[in-house]
Formats: sequence, structure tokens, C-alpha cells
Amino acid sequence: MNALSTVFTRQVGIEVPLICGAMYPCSNLELVAAVSAAGGIGIVQPISMSFVHKRELREGLRAIRAITDRPIGFNAIVEKSSKAYEDRMRKWIDIALEEGVRFFITALGDPRWVVERVHAVGGIVYHDVTERKWAEKALAGGVDGLICVNRDAGGHAGTASAEQLWRDLGDLGVPLIAAGGVGDAAAFARTLDIGFAGVQLGTRFIATTECRAHDDYKQAILRARPEDIVLTERISGVPVAVIKTPYIEKVGTEASFLMKRALQHAKLKHYARLYYSVKSVFELRRASLQGVSYRDFFQAGKSVGGIDSVEPAGDIVRRFAAAARAA
Ligand SMILES: Cc1cc2nc3c(=O)[nH]c(=O)nc-3n(C[C@H](O)[C@H](O)[C@H](O)COP(=O)(O)O)c2cc1C
Repeated sequence: MNALSTVFTRQVGIEVPLICGAMYPCSNLELVAAVSAAGGIGIVQPISMSFVHKRELREGLRAIRAITDRPIGFNAIVEKSSKAYEDRMRKWIDIALEEGVRFFITALGDPRWVVERVHAVGGIVYHDVTERKWAEKALAGGVDGLICVNRDAGGHAGTASAEQLWRDLGDLGVPLIAAGGVGDAAAFARTLDIGFAGVQLGTRFIATTECRAHDDYKQAILRARPEDIVLTERISGVPVAVIKTPYIEKVGTEASFLMKRALQHAKLKHYARLYYSVKSVFELRRASLQGVSYRDFFQAGKSVGGIDSVEPAGDIVRRFAAAARAA
């Protein structure tokens, strides 16, 4: 019997309750494959795969399969932004299912239609949540588990601590995964000890040999301390965790007055969000691939505090698993 076995590992068929979360623009196929090959599960971010790393989705999924036949997951951001985006996401999900992916992490919108498609072939869907209101909505949509995004997370951070989310959502009767703030093996073991069925990490896996992010970005993560992480609205219109660099200090972290008004306006908010999502897709891609020669804004969470070297992703999975087994 695997000492790290949880409801989650049994559902998805993995050994270590560790997810390398989807990261736009940092999820490249080599990183996803390395985490899965080591016994955790890597999540494909389809926009990152196609737009940043220039791999057509089906071909990219097959390239992962050539490296490992262990389970991988797929990130479906189901926010209603445009008809073209929704159509694209539906096609991507069909391709992922055809290529054998059976674990999906939905984020931001109503996961119901994804659940219907994925359950029809026996797959599993977890949804990203930051509070109980969204958790209840996702459960009404039929999801099998919840990714509890806490206030320390990279990407779109939540507002509650991991412990608070455990207390707020622990009675919902589905497996809970903690996301945010875990940068070292001791924090991984501690988080599982709270009772979570797994831990999703992002920032830790940017500082790996497999991640294709620019070395300036990786070095910025090694140098940063938790207090250097700030939330900025200037990338996507909603707060995103970034390292406070001279560039961030110069441009500030608040959306402009006009954009704030537009984001609150009943009719204009849709266009404001669309503007931000297109702008952020381009800007983040450049910042991640070009390093400080572009603009130094680097997304990262407070887990930077536990990260002090660039390592192969598989070594991280094995070290974290050993610490949790020994705890
Ligand atoms: C650079 C970056 C990009 C991210 N992009 C996404 C994304 O595209 N979709 C998503 O669901 N979560 C995204 N996340 C969140 C991660 O999947 C994960 O939940 C989070 O990083 C966990 O916090 P940590 O960074 O402290 O480990 C992103 C996080 C980072 C750091």
C-alpha cells in the first residue's frame, strides 16, 4: 500500500498527491511530462501549449505520451469571454479526451458542460475555488473535487489561508487539494497533514530545468522573498501575484481609473475583460520568454520563500514525496 495514497491519487491513478498546476505561460510539455513521470501529475495549459510553446494540442499531447504513459491533466478556463474562445475550448477538450486525458481542472466559470463531457467517458473534474460560494456552485455543476486556492498562491490568488479554506470547505464531502504557498518539502508535508488530499504547486516548478521560462525569471524567483510578492490588477484586471521588481514599482499595481470604471460597468465590463485577456496573453508570453530585456514582470506566489535552486522537476516530486512519507 502506498503511504501517500489519498482519495485523489486513487481517483486519478497516481502515486504522489502532488499536482504541477497549469501555468500560462510557463507550462511547457517537458515540464508536464517530467512531473507525471515522477509520480505526481502535470497539467497541460492549452493556451500556453499552442500560443507560447507553438505545439498544436494533439501533437503536444502525443509528445508528452512519448515521454511518459502516466496520467496527465488538462486545464479548462471556462470563463465566458468570447464565442470564439468557448468554441476553441470545446474542441480542445474533445481532443484531450480523444488522446486519453481523464483529469480536468476547470477554473473561473460554470464547469457543468465540462463535467458532462468528461463524466461520459469516466473522467474526473476538479474546480478551482477561493471561497465557499464558488465551491457550492461548482458542486452543483457536478465536480468531483475542489482545488482550494489560498491567499499565498501564484496566479490569481485567493483571500483565505490554507487552514481557513480547510475549515470552510472540509464538510462538503469531496476531496480538497490545497493550492498556494508550498515551495519546499516541509511545507508539502505540513499541508498534507492538515488533511488535504493533495497539493497543487505552480511557482516551485518554474524554477526547474524543464521549464522553458527565461533564466532571468527563474533567478528572480530564487532571489525573491515572500514579502516581495504583490498583487497587481494591471495584467488581467483582477489581482495577479507578481514579484515586486523596479518595473512593477514604476507602473504601480492598480488598474487605471478608466479601466476600473469599465470593469464595473454592466455593458463595458465584458469588453474591458476581453481587452485585458488579450493584452495579458501577449505581455506574459514576452515577459516569460524574454526575461528582463522586455519588462520585468514575473508572476510568482509567496512560495518563493522556500525555493533556492533550479532543479529537475522529478527530483522535486521525489524529495517532496520522501518528506511526506517520513512525516
Ligand atoms: C505563472 C503562473 C501562471 C498560472 N497560470 C494559471 C493558469 O493558466 N490556469 C490556472 O488554472 N492556474 C494558473 N496558475 C495557478 C497555479 O496552477 C497554481 O494553482 C498556483 O501557482 C499555486 O500556487 P504557488 O505558485 O504558490 O505554488 C498560475 C500560477 C502561476 C505562478
